[in-house]
Amino acid sequence: MCGIVGYIGNREIKSLLLEGLKELEYRGYDSAGIAIMQKDDIRYFKAVGKLKNLAEKTKDFKTEGFGVGIGHTRWATHGKPTELNAHPHLGEFSYVVHNGIIENYQELKKELIESGVNFVSQTDTEVIVHLFEKNLKNSKDPMEAFEKTIETLKGAYAILLITKSAPDTIFFARKGSPLIIGTNDKGEIFFASSDAPLISNATEVIYLEDGEYGYANKEGIKLFANKEEKEPVKVPLTTDKQYAQKGGFRFFMEKEIYEQSEVVGDTILGRASNGKIYFEELKEEIIEGINEIKICACGTSYHAGLTSAYLFERMAKIRCSVEIASEFRYKEPLLTKDTLFVVISQSGETADTLEALRMAKKAGLKTLAICNVDNSSIVRLADYTILTRAGIEKGVASTKAFATQVMVLWMLVLYFSQIRKTLSDETIANELKAIRRIPKVVKVKDKLHEKIKRLSKRYLHGHGFFYIGRDIFFPLALEGALKLKEISYLHAEGYPAGEMKHGPIALADSELFTIALMPKTVHYDKIKSNVEELSARDATILAISPVEFELADDFIKTEYFDHPMIEFFEMMVITQLLAMEIAIRLGNDVDMPRNLAKSVTVE
Ligand code: G6P
Repeated sequence: MCGIVGYIGNREIKSLLLEGLKELEYRGYDSAGIAIMQKDDIRYFKAVGKLKNLAEKTKDFKTEGFGVGIGHTRWATHGKPTELNAHPHLGEFSYVVHNGIIENYQELKKELIESGVNFVSQTDTEVIVHLFEKNLKNSKDPMEAFEKTIETLKGAYAILLITKSAPDTIFFARKGSPLIIGTNDKGEIFFASSDAPLISNATEVIYLEDGEYGYANKEGIKLFANKEEKEPVKVPLTTDKQYAQKGGFRFFMEKEIYEQSEVVGDTILGRASNGKIYFEELKEEIIEGINEIKICACGTSYHAGLTSAYLFERMAKIRCSVEIASEFRYKEPLLTKDTLFVVISQSGETADTLEALRMAKKAGLKTLAICNVDNSSIVRLADYTILTRAGIEKGVASTKAFATQVMVLWMLVLYFSQIRKTLSDETIANELKAIRRIPKVVKVKDKLHEKIKRLSKRYLHGHGFFYIGRDIFFPLALEGALKLKEISYLHAEGYPAGEMKHGPIALADSELFTIALMPKTVHYDKIKSNVEELSARDATILAISPVEFELADDFIKTEYFDHPMIEFFEMMVITQLLAMEIAIRLGNDVDMPRNLAKSVTVE
């Protein structure tokens, strides 16, 4: 997602901002920009594409002496990746950069246009700067105008704003999107949306909390929350870049598991409000004349697809089949134009998935890509794309990308249900309520992680793991087993719980480890009896459930049990942590497991 940097001080500001943005590149972006103010002169530059384009545009520009600057890398959400839509956004005498989504931007924009303001971009961000300037007309004090502005904004944001009306100042605010302020003993002040750009520049940092805002200038930092001034809490900043990139976690995979709460939140932003699902990137006609959905993908993405197939049929009442792309390619599939062809891919470059998409296009089908990398080959080829907004995933074993894929697919099911009127407004409202709870549900709790760490030592051997589940928990069982295989090199299979008796139960003995996904909301009694059958044959059972299960050798109690998808996401985190802790104990390189590649661009 987008990145923010800012600076107040005497250094050459352009280079400092560009270097800072470079540190944020890993988040993914499609355009970038900077604005620099010295005295009351503001210069700004924007460029589409990589930072080298922005560097090229600014090559003849340099600052000398004191100034303030803000910079941004943008990953398009509202409006295409164009120069006009790139940040900083400008008013008449002020500039703003913003991460997140302003949910009420349409109504604010309408009011501003009615009062004579001219908009140049399609973004939600532009309302912030115009609103600020409008408020300033009535107040004359920039801080008061800024406070009033952020009070009006709904949604999520990290904001930096500079204005000629306060020439040595950066105004800042945070709600829902991270923002950090860095300081050092030279009196310089830095801003960034994650700590990488601050390392080796700042020695202390202030991690802003939601609802905090204020301003910084030569004199220092003024911090507020609810109109009350607050004393900023400064903490020392690490000097180890690698450590910082991993955010203090042992592995990128661990960091990415912990990031799920934030990125799932990003995935929902602007897409679920007022009792409805919105996808700016789709048109309702996408489903016109469609009688079937066919999903094609590989690996983890395939499992996300399998999960959604249950939901497409159950809620949107539309036939849905899911195929492994490498199989699909050579089966001479029958493709008819009443089928919507959906590909799911984290990287957007997987050779088999890309080829499946080509085949569907050739057959004249409408195509939709659910992808994490904008401008990837798959995105460029598909008719429609929904970006999953997971940010760059470094761990080879996919975690946060899977979480965001499932989230997008669940929302897509509801979007189609809305159009096809297969669910009542009340049901959709309930689903939306559940969706909004997921960022909290997937937040890793220390106690849970500790418990899994402890349990993991009992699962380092044995002749195999069976992850079992029913309904949507069957694809989750497949995904849990895949995670374990990928990074622990132990043999694991995912199986539909009801199918164990048709063969695999022959393997059952005390050295067969069964990871039983036992949600309360989906066929609890059925899966319970399946697990009892295994227990009767002495299999070792690790049960994951909100309901105590006395036959379990080990038990992880889940917290939530009022919606299947809430149970799904909670159990997803548990299976990810379990695989990771087992692999760590076995001494494996969790981020780069043997024989695997993050992006498989060959057949
Ligand atoms: C590789 C990765 C998996 C991923 C699969 C599909 O095997 O190691 O984590 O699920 O490719 O990748 P895609 O980028 O298309 O989702």
